[in-house]
Amino acid sequence: MENPGGELFSEERSADVVIASMDGTPDPRVREVLGSLVRHLHAFVKDVELTEEEWNAAIAFLTATGHKSDDLRQEFVLLSDVLGVSMLVETVNHRAGGVGTESTVLGPFHVVESPPRPLGADIALTDGGEPCLVTGRVVGPDGEPVGGATVDVWQADADGFYDVQRPDEVPRTNLRGLFTTEPDGTFWFRTIMPRYYPIPDDGPVGTLLAATGRHPNRPAHIHFIVQAAGYAPVTTHVFAADSPYLESDAVFGVKPSLVREFAVVEDPERAASLGLPDRFRTVDFEVVLFRSAEG
Ligand code: BEZ
Ligand code: FE
Repeated sequence: MENPGGELFSEERSADVVIASMDGTPDPRVREVLGSLVRHLHAFVKDVELTEEEWNAAIAFLTATGHKSDDLRQEFVLLSDVLGVSMLVETVNHRAGGVGTESTVLGPFHVVESPPRPLGADIALTDGGEPCLVTGRVVGPDGEPVGGATVDVWQADADGFYDVQRPDEVPRTNLRGLFTTEPDGTFWFRTIMPRYYPIPDDGPVGTLLAATGRHPNRPAHIHFIVQAAGYAPVTTHVFAADSPYLESDAVFGVKPSLVREFAVVEDPERAASLGLPDRFRTVDFEVVLFRSAEG
């Protein structure tokens, strides 16, 4: 009972009074979450002694964030990302630690279904960029190969854009692919080196970044969602070790275990057998899945 005497609202008892007004909430989890939210919000207002101008500015900012959002642009997710909330929710929910590949943010660009492609396919549908071979293996916690796993990949191009950001210039599904692992868990595909890129910063989130002296960039990475029957799916990235911004990702998504060298290969014979130019880059990314609770 937060408000035993049924007191009216006052500065001292503000949170208790509001929380007590929600005593009739039937769902205990809703009651817990809203109660904690109110307590923290009230403490925040008191902590900074929020002025009315600041409160109005906050409302205008959130309104603009809503107006900037549509089916292809989710400004609230971006806001959560740059405030570190997306990564915190993700981290709190995947604490298992140990052997499994660490997860990181999904991001807003998985808006197009990745097309199924055969192993070895080139996901770069346009010219340009530094050719790259990605190899890997999906295994379980005891190192057992996971055949038949799906490996969904998407990435930015050599200029740092996703296909959906340049709909008039590149085909949809450029730099996207859905692969299925061999019985020994292996997968491989051809692509180009992704470039670091700025998250969309032409909206309220960009204004917030500028106001706080922050840059909008993410280090170069390839996104992965790996799933297999009997295992928990993982949403993750592989980051290029030579990329700028590894130390200051705008959305706090970098985990050291996900950073890999993209080695330079100058081997004409190997290149020819792979259908790649004489000089290419390559990265190997082993993905370790946890078994699912029911698996
Ligand atoms: C991304 O990696 O695609 C991304 C993640 C968070 C915000 C913006 C982009
Ligand atoms: Fe990305």
